[in-house]
Amino acid sequence: MVAEARGVIMNGVTGRMGYRQHLLRSVLAIRESGGVELPDGSRVQLDPVLVGRNRARVQEIAERHDVKRWSTDLAAELSDPANDIYFDAQLTHVRHASIVQAIEAGKHVFTEKPIATDVSGALSLARAARTAGMCNGVVHDKLYLPGLRKLKRVVDSGFLGRILSVRGEFGYWVFEGDWQPAQRPSWNYRAEDGGGVVVDMFAHWNYVLENIIGAVEAVTAKAVTHIPERVDEHGQVYRATADDAAYGIFELADGAIAQINSSWTVRVNRDELVEFQVDGTHGSAVAGLMGCKVQSRVNTPKAIWNPDLPEQNVYRDQWDEVPDNAEFGNAFRAQWEQFVRDVVAGRPHPYDFLAGARGVRLAELGLQSSASGRRVEVGELTL
Ligand SMILES: NC(=O)c1ccc[n+]([C@@H]2O[C@H](COP(=O)([O-])OP(=O)(O)OC[C@H]3O[C@@H](n4cnc5c(N)ncnc54)[C@H](O)[C@@H]3O)[C@@H](O)[C@H]2O)c1
Repeated sequence: MVAEARGVIMNGVTGRMGYRQHLLRSVLAIRESGGVELPDGSRVQLDPVLVGRNRARVQEIAERHDVKRWSTDLAAELSDPANDIYFDAQLTHVRHASIVQAIEAGKHVFTEKPIATDVSGALSLARAARTAGMCNGVVHDKLYLPGLRKLKRVVDSGFLGRILSVRGEFGYWVFEGDWQPAQRPSWNYRAEDGGGVVVDMFAHWNYVLENIIGAVEAVTAKAVTHIPERVDEHGQVYRATADDAAYGIFELADGAIAQINSSWTVRVNRDELVEFQVDGTHGSAVAGLMGCKVQSRVNTPKAIWNPDLPEQNVYRDQWDEVPDNAEFGNAFRAQWEQFVRDVVAGRPHPYDFLAGARGVRLAELGLQSSASGRRVEVGELTL
């Protein structure tokens, strides 16, 4: 039974994230399956309208995917009462103005992260959203990944005992663009365009740590630009003004220490592009995008340091895989469905603008730590 259709303004669908993850894998996949299922078994269908600056590109995407509504006029779409939700996957530095417009138009707002380029901008959006009283959410996609959902299950079960430390390794080699095209947009490497691995990834690490292990209370970080010159989408050489690697230490509530390397200048020798090892008094876990494996205290083999003998242990084989026990689906789609259910129910979305602001703040403090060479405490962020 289809109960109703909600108009969704999608801004930034010509971009990498907006197109692949949000339009194709989320909103169109939901539309294809008949809408978001509600607790009473009824469904809410989504009716997207694609908005962008380039008429030809927006029209082409709309026609390719049988999306009837598209426009280059955001203000007109915002003034249409048929549109209930505004979604933003534009470049970070142009997001603020569009979200302000959407809030003023009384729309519910879901947005890519980082919500803003600085904490004051993020907080001003969080305040405006609270005053307007509409549902607001920021993409927290990593929390919906199978590997991290299983890690959360392991942590919540108490299997790990007291958590001591987290070791996170994120990254891969992003081509410089000279003899092979780069697999990320060039703005990622220009600070003036909102780029940088700290701004990009610390926003993720903040919510991953906060929701699975513990809130970040202090940060010490070193951000570096290892590759100073790259080649852009048009074959032009440009100066990389943003950091392409960051080495961070995060002190968490309850005393655990997280060390996370974030890098676009590392070659992969891991099972997955992101991996977190969590060690506790009673057990350990290693989680990636998809998998999560554990080793308990009683099953911990005795490792002995002996540089005179070849290694006898196959350490990777000494772990047990945590079963899925569920179908997880696409992480972005899962959060879209939760956001739509929250809109329909008229309740707050748990990963709101204030949570997004905390992510922006961690990036800001990480850069501050790197520039000053000092540890920086993270206080409470209130509206
Ligand atoms: N959740 C995640 O894991 C994740 C991953 C990558 C990027 N992101 C975020 O998603 C957003 C988009 O990143 P992307 O990698 O898709 O970038 P992209 O360059 O592929 O796309 C950017 C989009 O913004 C639009 N745009 C560019 N300049 C604009 C301007 N001046 N005014 C209005 N629109 C403009 C482009 O037309 C395009 O639609 C960023 O905020 C980024 O931080 C999130």
